[in-house]
Amino acid sequence: MNPHVESALNDQVQKEASSSQFYLAMASWAESNGLNGTAKFMYQHSDEERFHMLKLIHFINERGGKALIPSIEQPPKEFRDLENVFELLLAHEISVTESINNLVDICLQQKDYTTHNFVQWYVSEQLEEEALARTVLDKLRLIGGDKGGMYMFDRDLENSSIGGAAQQAQQ
Ligand code: FEO
Repeated sequence: MNPHVESALNDQVQKEASSSQFYLAMASWAESNGLNGTAKFMYQHSDEERFHMLKLIHFINERGGKALIPSIEQPPKEFRDLENVFELLLAHEISVTESINNLVDICLQQKDYTTHNFVQWYVSEQLEEEALARTVLDKLRLIGGDKGGMYMFDRDLENSSIGGAAQQAQQ
């Protein structure tokens, strides 16, 4: 496997692992604050990121490279409120998109069209994840500080198919 591509893929393994841990921290925070819908959404999202990581690991190894299992930085322990959680989620997804775009660039520079094709799945996934984060954040901004609205938001998230769609993507 081309060493530049292999290195960039391994960097992406680290980013997906960090994303999974970051969303796990959000899930745990939400659960301990009685926000069960948000917790469910974040636990599922964390699983989805782990799946993104595993998909990369398998690809690297199956193509003759060596996947490296990274150490993971400590995610935040506290969040200000729900808006803060989803702001951080969107900012994080934007940074992951930049990293995927960088990976696409490297594949083209190295003329590795097989990996370029593989990475397109991540390009589409990032489009969906950013759009979803923006939609949720728009809703939260509409609600503002209204407690009743926040309760309904969390309940809607618990009953929505958003998390289910994340799980189906892994099958
Ligand atoms: Fe796998 Fe949300 O980046």
